[in-house]
Amino acid sequence: MFQPEVHREIHEFFSGGVRCLLLPDSAGFEGLDPHALEAALSPQNRQILKSITNPARRSEFLRTRFLVRLGAGLTSDPQRDSEGLIQWPVELCGSVSHSLGNVLVATSQRTSYVSIGVDMERPSRISDKLAEKICTDFERNLIATGAVSLAEVFSAKEALFKCHYSLGRRRFWFLDAEISAVKVHLGTKKLDLRVLIDTSAITPANTLTRVDILAMPIGEFILALAQIPTTSKSMDHVDG
Ligand SMILES: CC(C)(COP(=O)(O)OP(=O)(O)OC[C@H]1O[C@@H](n2cnc3c(N)ncnc32)[C@H](O)[C@@H]1OP(=O)(O)O)[C@@H](O)C(=O)NCCC(=O)NCCS
Repeated sequence: MFQPEVHREIHEFFSGGVRCLLLPDSAGFEGLDPHALEAALSPQNRQILKSITNPARRSEFLRTRFLVRLGAGLTSDPQRDSEGLIQWPVELCGSVSHSLGNVLVATSQRTSYVSIGVDMERPSRISDKLAEKICTDFERNLIATGAVSLAEVFSAKEALFKCHYSLGRRRFWFLDAEISAVKVHLGTKKLDLRVLIDTSAITPANTLTRVDILAMPIGEFILALAQIPTTSKSMDHVDG
């Protein structure tokens, strides 16, 4: 399904069993003609596009729908539910992040992960003033020792939220989650985060979730990837 003619401008990389497709802001090949992208939308997404007036946001929306189709291996847009969450094909879980025209779509086979969440972030956007709202005391100590940066904590928690919310539809906030361990393996920072409240039938309070911090092939962005592995127990809950 990965079209050779667009391969040159879309970065494809893997982290464990997760496939990431990155469409940089600079990519502008023929398949990204705005009129063609608009014509390819589902009626549902065409309706959403009508409500977006900002030209940059419209372009990002169209390019995101293109990359979602590519990542999902579909020729038409997957449906979005009443909360706007993408209904991925039954064999996949996925997550999306976009920033300044750059779009990232991550997908994984459900046999590997029951849910994933991604967040693409520009560290310079995260002001030190936010530390109090984002970090527990323990995390502020981690930042002081240089183990993690504030942007990494922020991005990890956003990815964590997307990953858990897709499973249980329960909202939680930055201080409801805390990093419990930081490791570095083969140059990748691996965080274990504990969510302090129940977020789904398979993620009761205090469940640990792995979040990897990945370097991005563009600019100064970082990528946080949260992942909940599939176990026979989790498959029972999600499928049942
Ligand atoms: C949902 C949220 C995380 C999106 O993050 P963002 O930085 O604004 O935007 P991103 O570009 O990274 O991600 C947007 C994509 O996330 C997906 N998304 C939106 N809401 C979502 C949700 N509740 N759960 C999972 N994915 C969601 C969508 O696919 C969306 O893209 P699309 O509308 O074009 O399909 C954020 O808006 C939010 O609500 N945050 C508050 C909750 C929170 O962060 N808590 C911290 C927990 S520790």
